[in-house]
Amino acid sequence: MKSTFFSPRGMLLGALGLLAVATECSAMGTANSLLLTQVAKTVQLPTFTWSANGTHTARGYTTKQANVTSVQGMHEDCENINLNKKLSTDFRSDVFGNGVIGFFYKCERISHDTNLYWFTISSGNQSQIDRLCSQKSSYPIVYDSQHGTWFIDEPFDCTQRTAPSNVF
Ligand SMILES: *[C@@H]1O[C@H](CO)[C@@H](O)[C@H](O)[C@H]1NC(C)=O
Ligand SMILES: *[C@@H]1O[C@H](CO)[C@@H](O)[C@H](O)[C@H]1NC(C)=O
Ligand SMILES: *[C@@H]1O[C@H](CO)[C@@H](O)[C@H](O)[C@H]1NC(C)=O
Repeated sequence: MKSTFFSPRGMLLGALGLLAVATECSAMGTANSLLLTQVAKTVQLPTFTWSANGTHTARGYTTKQANVTSVQGMHEDCENINLNKKLSTDFRSDVFGNGVIGFFYKCERISHDTNLYWFTISSGNQSQIDRLCSQKSSYPIVYDSQHGTWFIDEPFDCTQRTAPSNVF
């Protein structure tokens, strides 16, 4: 699955990623500021945030006992994220408390019962991001009523983390 990284398309995406980093600072001040400012205001994003990005997997079931895979629900969740993206405010507040803002923007079904999700996540509270990035954190099964599916989130694999620029 990860081998696509070496394909021409993967190289192009890598180059676009670098471009995105290079233009990130100016983007806030130009054409995107209207959108980003409104999103930040609406989700009450703190001025100084800790962030992380990466991937994580989740399994979907039709029952709380997690004994029957919800093939349809997992497929629909993946498709919905690829089409519409998902901004989740107070993400997993049952685990972290309030204030964690997750953006899910890409999904791939990697096996019969597992979806792989790409995320960027942010909070004004560093310990919430520490906890999210810890491989030891566990997540109780949750019901997603939109897709009629019980989901088990597996640990989040953080590839990059950032701190508020005034901190370090
Ligand atoms: C995380 O962000 C860095 C810098 O923008 C980017 O190069 C990397 O591909 C991202 N990782 C994921 C898994 O999205
Ligand atoms: C799943 O678990 C429920 C509740 O224990 C049970 O009623 C059902 O028969 C189980 N289904 C399968 C396919 O094991
Ligand atoms: C930060 O989050 C942790 C839990 O992850 C919580 O115990 C703590 O009270 C939070 N701190 C503030 C200032 O909200």
